Amino acid sequence: MAGIGATAFGKPLRAEPQIRSFSLRPAPGQARLVPEPYPATPVWGFNGQVPGPELRVRQGDRLRIVVTNGLDEETTVHWHGLRLPNAMDGVPHLTQKPIAPGETFTYEFDAIDAGTFWYHPHQRSFEQVGRGLAGPLIIDESNPPRVDRDVTWLLDDWRLTRDAAIADDFGAAMDMSHAGRLGNTVTINGRVPDVFVVRQGERIRLRLINAANARIFALDFGDLSARVIALDGQPVTPHAAPDGVVVLGPAMRADIMLDCLADPGTTVQIIDRAYRDNEFNLLDVVFDDTPLRATPPDWEIALPANPLIEPDLNAARRHEILFTGGMMGAMVERQMGLSQSGSMMGGMMGGVVGGGMWFVNGVAAEGHMLDPFLTLERDASHILQMTNATAFDHPIHLHGHSFRVISRDGVPTEFREWQDTVLIAPREQVEIALVADNPGDWMFHCHILEHQAAGMMGVIRVA
Ligand code: C2O
Ligand code: CU
Repeated sequence: MAGIGATAFGKPLRAEPQIRSFSLRPAPGQARLVPEPYPATPVWGFNGQVPGPELRVRQGDRLRIVVTNGLDEETTVHWHGLRLPNAMDGVPHLTQKPIAPGETFTYEFDAIDAGTFWYHPHQRSFEQVGRGLAGPLIIDESNPPRVDRDVTWLLDDWRLTRDAAIADDFGAAMDMSHAGRLGNTVTINGRVPDVFVVRQGERIRLRLINAANARIFALDFGDLSARVIALDGQPVTPHAAPDGVVVLGPAMRADIMLDCLADPGTTVQIIDRAYRDNEFNLLDVVFDDTPLRATPPDWEIALPANPLIEPDLNAARRHEILFTGGMMGAMVERQMGLSQSGSMMGGMMGGVVGGGMWFVNGVAAEGHMLDPFLTLERDASHILQMTNATAFDHPIHLHGHSFRVISRDGVPTEFREWQDTVLIAPREQVEIALVADNPGDWMFHCHILEHQAAGMMGVIRVA
């Protein structure tokens, strides 16, 4: 494993970075997710909170986070989307020994990129995250664009019983083989939302984080002007959300510049349109009586770039990755003209529980101690061509790097957005490009946590 090398990843960015210390204690607790008369919900939270506390630092700071495990089982914390040294990535067995109950592990790394990130356990995440262990991690630009308010919304989805307890059917075979554990209660920052009060002319930087196990959000902002300025923490050319809708698969983030243009007293609904037969009103945006300004401000909205290295597409090596499996997967494979792959053997033969339902290049992962299925030459440019030969959407996440999404079904993307998690539709083919500049063994997996637990995971080595 690399010691102090020439890379930016092992050493401080500044001669003397400011060290910012935090402590996190995952443990059982209570949270009021749904209003009275329902009781509070028994959850697992960081520092007794759901979501966990917002960790907030400035780009170039160094974070030191002491994690003490208050659960009855092993855990780790993964800093989703951060480009950090491999040993700090929080993957049990692969990058560290899991933190035993009562024990402590200290994470320490530099905030290289500004942006909207989050943290969550990587041990049995389908249950640990599903019970509430997730929190925002915000890294401020040294010169952030001017706004009236900077607001974080961590979106989550819960499967609650009638007495507001979390249904304990984690790992149900039905969820694993289909679209994952979809819940029946959506929260913003740990509460079923009601109204969000704004003022006419107000400009809000809204940081959206999808912390759900499986739910995809497609938020329609209606008459509000929603311009996307960052995706997965990384700046993107500012653009109106396509059709006014912001789509976020599990683990994905978007920073939105929201200009509130309606008249005082108006109510605008934010509608979730992700599931055609189950659209719902997420919350009401209510304009209060006192306008702030008559027209939106003309302040700059573009974010300064993060220090990412541009992949050289002409020199890039190509690699192919095929996703198969899940319910109806064999049918999709036949339709796509693919022959025998993993799912033909491991497919849905009834009564399959646990691993072995989803496959990355024909292999269903078990646990995190895996031989790499792909090795990327360090500091070289690479294109990963990923094909979703299944009947379900998959948000595919690579640890330790951000990548450019360069094409979908052969058509170049308009913004070549940097992401760390890319949502791939059934039968879709997506190409991503990156410079593999962060050495180590990195997880690569679907972020529908039931798919991950049922095999949709692998390790990519950068060496
Ligand atoms: Cu948020 Cu391995 O993931
Ligand atoms: Cu998936």
